[in-house]
Formats: sequence, structure tokens, C-alpha cells
Amino acid sequence: MSKKHIVLVGLMGSGKSVIGRYLARSLQLAFTDTDEVIVDREAMSIPEIFEKAGEEGFRKVESEVIANVVLSKPRVIATGGGVVTQPKNLEYLRDSGRIYYLKASVNCLAERIQQDHNRPLLKNADPYEVLQKLLVERSSLYEEADKIIKVDGKTVEEISNSIAQDFSQTS
Ligand code: S3P
Repeated sequence: MSKKHIVLVGLMGSGKSVIGRYLARSLQLAFTDTDEVIVDREAMSIPEIFEKAGEEGFRKVESEVIANVVLSKPRVIATGGGVVTQPKNLEYLRDSGRIYYLKASVNCLAERIQQDHNRPLLKNADPYEVLQKLLVERSSLYEEADKIIKVDGKTVEEISNSIAQDFSQTS
């Protein structure tokens, strides 16, 4: 399979959806946010899926969605922050796309996602602590990306342009 997709990975709040949408529009590519596909498919919000099926149930649906989306025409794919926890997901994404890790500091992430009720992993918890813990657990997985893009202090346009430039040079 050729590297046809642009895949964005990173922690909650790193800007995958906003940057992905902007990038897709500027490159005139289709865009898929896998969290949105999951919500549509299950006809439930993410917190409801976690409540009903647990994180394990959510991960199962997420993997099915990933396996499916990689088969579609070239697009920008914004993934959920935990996509890297399932080796199979990374395998599918790596085989079919170029993976960009949107790397942000925990301070920057925590500031952006304060008071977020749509992220079950942050429910009743200090966002800074949860993000710090997730970063320790996942950092080496995110860093398996083809390219690391530091996002602190950069605009959506700047980030999107550097991804577009890299993709045009490598694909
Ligand atoms: C998760 C991140 C969320 C969503 C779910 C689990 C995670 O996506 O998939 O709440 O495990 O980090 P975003 O990264 O888009 O917030």
C-alpha cells in the first residue's frame, strides 16, 4: 500500500482535529476524524461509550474504524489520543500513511482542555496530572511517528504548512 494518507497523532488537546481540518481544506483532501466516526457509528457520545462498554469497548470500535478508514481514498486522518496504545492500529496507519506526532507540552495541553466534559479520561481528575501520566506512558509510541511537529506557540496555519511541506517532499 502506498503512503497516501496524512495521519495526525498526539495527546488530547494537541490540535489534531483543528489542524487536520485546516490541512485537508488547504490540500483539497478529504478529512476524517476517527472520534467523530466512532460517535456516528455507535450513535453515542464518547463518554457514553466509555460508560457502557468501558475503555476496552471503545478501543475495539476505534480499531475497527482505523482498519476501515485506511482503505479509503487519500485523506487527512485525525486520530484519538489513545490510538497508539493498540499496536495493530499503528501498523495499519504506518502502512498506509505518513504519521505526524503533534507534540505539545503538558502545560499547553492542560490549558487548552480545562473544563472538557467530552473526554472521559479527564473526568473527575486534574487534567495536568492525567496528561502527564499519559505522556509518560505513550511518549515512546507517539515518537514512532514518521515526523515530530512541535506545536507549542505555533498557529494552526504554521503547523499545517509545515506538515504540507514535509508531505509534498516525501510522498
Ligand atoms: C482519548 C482521546 C480522545 C478520545 C477518547 C480517548 C485518549 O480523543 O479518543 O476520549 O485515550 O487519549 P482526542 O485525543 O481527540 O481528545
